Amino acid sequence: MANAMWGGRYQEGPAAIMEEINASIDFDKRLAAQDIRGSRAHVAMLAKQGIVSEADAKAITEGLAKIEAEIEAGTFTFSRALEDIHLNIESNLAKKIGPAAGRLHTARSRNDQVAVDFRLWVRDNLDAIDAGLKALQQALTEKALAHAGTVMPGFTHLQSAQPTTFGHHLLAYVEMLGRDRGRFADARKRMNECPLGAAALCGTSFPIDRHMTAAALGFDRPTANSLDSVSDRDFALEALSAMAISAMHLSRLAEELVIWTTPQFGFIALSDKFTTGSSIMPQKRNPDAAELVRAKIGRIIGALTGLLVVMKGLPLSYAKDMQEDKERTFDAFDAFALCVAATAGMVTDMVPDAKRMKKAAGVGYATATDLADWLVQTLNMPFRDAHHVTGRIVGLASARNIDLDKLSLTEMQGVEPRITEDVFRVLSVGNSVKSRTSYGGTAPANVKAQARRWLKVLNRG
Ligand code: ARG
Repeated sequence: MANAMWGGRYQEGPAAIMEEINASIDFDKRLAAQDIRGSRAHVAMLAKQGIVSEADAKAITEGLAKIEAEIEAGTFTFSRALEDIHLNIESNLAKKIGPAAGRLHTARSRNDQVAVDFRLWVRDNLDAIDAGLKALQQALTEKALAHAGTVMPGFTHLQSAQPTTFGHHLLAYVEMLGRDRGRFADARKRMNECPLGAAALCGTSFPIDRHMTAAALGFDRPTANSLDSVSDRDFALEALSAMAISAMHLSRLAEELVIWTTPQFGFIALSDKFTTGSSIMPQKRNPDAAELVRAKIGRIIGALTGLLVVMKGLPLSYAKDMQEDKERTFDAFDAFALCVAATAGMVTDMVPDAKRMKKAAGVGYATATDLADWLVQTLNMPFRDAHHVTGRIVGLASARNIDLDKLSLTEMQGVEPRITEDVFRVLSVGNSVKSRTSYGGTAPANVKAQARRWLKVLNRG
């Protein structure tokens, strides 16, 4: 049987395989709420412009409300023969209200319809993402404030570099997530134009009011070019790009959680709620949630790359290729929301082992820079010379397999006679972090101030 919605010139129905490749209902049913929102705005505008009667508009609006309730209740029957969410809803509307349903699609095409639905979906979900990232920033900042003075090793090349604090380390992620939220906000702002009314590709001869529908749907304005409106998916690409960057940040934090929870590091413990046991090794507490956060970025980069490949080389305007925009995008948003929530859970529950971290902070001559700085500040030595002298002192300590502050004054004076007892003041990890008071530096007082600043920002916005 030919398609009831567009089959006027068709004698035969589609091959089974055609139906299978063509139908998007299995995944685009996720656009139902947005589709109904768009239709409501469209029909209200059609009525106001005198394009459909008030009576028909009322019947359509009431029918849409019933469909919405059925979909929410899970009693709506979706049909593959009806291809996609747009035709499923319109066809059901006809069953409910009769021929007036056929007027809903006046001055509209599925091309602008899907463009507006998908934009609304991405926009709704960007808002949800922002709330999730903000909650994660809050969790990180609270932990950072509590541990502004908890000394831990700072690494470069994953080698002991200089002592830092756990609070300072966590606030680094708060900064990253702040920029991520900025990127999502930029994407949201740029995408907030309404394609509805572009119709198939060239606009319409009906006297529609695109400003009215744009405003009703919360857009800043209608899109200015009808071809562009139905052709581009850059709004989804931009959201996915921002997501890939943010997922990369989450993946790095997840990797650190994995490293920190190894018995060898033992810097933090994750809660039972966010770890799993092993079916064979009874002692294990595996950081599965962190590992999955680390991994899920694969899907997100995959979605971004996949959509870029789908879109590249497509001639204007709409092509069915673009139906491939949704599935992976939905999947990426789902994966990302999960990652954000799981990370917030882990961060809230994690307990640092301050003693172990402090001990580890001194390993590997992490205060060598402090010694060099002392030589510069106290003996007015050029930094390069101080670096060299410090290197020789580290060599002494290393040959004896002891920490820098365990060397005697006489031993250090053997390398540089002007060194005094005062040097021991800077060789402890606690004093090292306290001394780094430059703006943005690791000193606990700085970290506290930054954490408080962030809490204010987060509570404001
Ligand atoms: N399901 C389609 C999509 O996702 C809707 C638009 C169909 N347009 C068309 N001219 N067949 O892209």
